[in-house]
Amino acid sequence: MTDYFYEPRKGHGLPHDPFKAIVAPRPVGWVTTIDGQGRVNLAPYSFFNAFASRPPLVGFATEGWKDSVRNVEETGEFVCNLVSRDLAEAMNITAAPLPFGENEMIRAGLEAAPARLVRPPLVARAVAALECRKTAIIRLSDAHGVEMENWLILGEVVGVHINGSFLKDGIFDTAAARPVARCGYAGDYAEVTSLFQMTRPVA
Ligand SMILES: Cc1cc2nc3c(=O)[nH]c(=O)nc-3n(C[C@H](O)[C@H](O)[C@H](O)COP(=O)(O)O)c2cc1C
Repeated sequence: MTDYFYEPRKGHGLPHDPFKAIVAPRPVGWVTTIDGQGRVNLAPYSFFNAFASRPPLVGFATEGWKDSVRNVEETGEFVCNLVSRDLAEAMNITAAPLPFGENEMIRAGLEAAPARLVRPPLVARAVAALECRKTAIIRLSDAHGVEMENWLILGEVVGVHINGSFLKDGIFDTAAARPVARCGYAGDYAEVTSLFQMTRPVA
């Protein structure tokens, strides 16, 4: 199977690093936090996923000590907003590295809506949003045990918001929400527009 092999520490030897094109598509956690003074921060994270279902846990990872992790450490709370196709451009604007304390939501022309159980607000137009309480902030280490400038933030989902028009007969319609996912190279995204079914084997 192997026509091309590389060891990342020795370089990939290609015009662009293919790692993020291989681990793709990745869902985007669009994370709202507040700092100790209540100032709102919003930023997208594609090192994002679900890690448990009962209770539900989600996590995102930061490359560097970014405002989002700093705020979660300070307040213990965050909200993950779903990025649907119509919000993709706004999401992209919120990735701008604004000075600490400056609100990316305002920069992107987005309205906030209050969460029920945590203090960071939701993106009002998000089709779904997860209210989270921090369970762990883990500093990541490499295979030699050397600590990296990367942090994994995990949280329990304590509240779930769903826009009712995406609930059809009690089923969340993922394809109708058209969630956006990050793909490989700069500027690459995918959009979920259709689903297919398979039944899991029982034995
Ligand atoms: C689609 C998308 C996904 C991103 N994923 C990550 C990520 O997983 N980890 C990370 O550190 N930065 C990621 N970034 C960059 C951050 O969003 C950016 O550094 C942002 O300014 C961080 O904001 P904060 O300092 O307010 O937390 C991503 C950017 C985009 C547009």
